[in-house]
Amino acid sequence: MNEIIMKIENLTKEFDLDFFSKKRFKAVNNVSFEINKGEIISLIGESGSGKTTVGKMILRLLKPTSGKILFENKDIWDLKKNEVKEYYRNVQAIFQDPFSSFNTLFKINRVFNMIFDNFFPEEKNRKEKIEKVISQVGMNPTNILGKYPHQLSGGQLQRLLIARALLMNVKVLVADELISMLDASTRIDVLNLLAEISEKTGMSIIFITHDLSLGYYLSDTTLIMYKGEIVEKGDTVEVYNNPQHPYTKMLLNSVPEIDRKWDKNEKFIPETIIKEIELYYQANKEKSTIYEAISKNHYVKVKK
Ligand SMILES: Nc1ncnc2c1ncn2[C@@H]1O[C@H](COP(=O)(O)OP(=O)(O)OP(=O)(O)O)[C@@H](O)[C@H]1O
Ligand SMILES: [Mg+2]
Repeated sequence: MNEIIMKIENLTKEFDLDFFSKKRFKAVNNVSFEINKGEIISLIGESGSGKTTVGKMILRLLKPTSGKILFENKDIWDLKKNEVKEYYRNVQAIFQDPFSSFNTLFKINRVFNMIFDNFFPEEKNRKEKIEKVISQVGMNPTNILGKYPHQLSGGQLQRLLIARALLMNVKVLVADELISMLDASTRIDVLNLLAEISEKTGMSIIFITHDLSLGYYLSDTTLIMYKGEIVEKGDTVEVYNNPQHPYTKMLLNSVPEIDRKWDKNEKFIPETIIKEIELYYQANKEKSTIYEAISKNHYVKVKK
């Protein structure tokens, strides 16, 4: 049976539109989904669709304007100080730029020791545990531990961030554009590593990306975001094989295929998709629900 670890309920985040006016816009609008133990969910959408904003709210870096995030049935904004620390032991993130996640003044062994100082001060077998997780992410601890972050590559630093999550035994990992700065073969290595860890340890992963092929490769469940809203969600294979929302269809059509050359007659005009979505919602306006079930595990937004 699926065990729900996190519940996102009607999450909304408004920002001021500009400095002078009082107008606000919804970067994230009424987003709801659940995360099961060991599930890999990808959050896919174009630049500016609100993916990172959702990630930041999950990490308590941004407070929602409305809506709730429940972790193990508790609202993460109702946690007491010591519970917040426990939350961060369980929920961690890896952001796009691995260099910014490391303090440049500390060698890697210091970075890992600090995890123990902060979260497990009683732990006796520090060295052994650190070496174990570094080996688990495919690196040689003796080559890595005495180095400063700037002496390592982007791929090595991302592996270390994964090692850190392993050491902390996190339950939910938010990976925001994790591998976008890695070359193709290192990417697959890191993706395989994530999948393997999730399967072995039951770690859930929220994989934020705008790369559809990476999402397909890795995730069990796919959420498609468009202008702050989830327009389609469900089982990854179902969503990709039977897309329903015009935006999802457009996204899937715009993936360059390895055997298809660029065709100068094929123009992408953003306005056409906006219009198409308008017409689609218009055609469905009599429907009684906002999200329609296509199957037990596949939903599409049918009206505004
Ligand atoms: N602190 C902020 N103040 C005002 N507007 C913000 C803030 N953070 C994000 N936004 C706006 O909210 C929208 C969503 O941003 P977000 O970073 O979540 O997009 P994204 O889907 O992660 O995009 P990308 O793929 O480019 O990373 C954007 O229009 C962005 O400009
Ligand atoms: Mg982002």
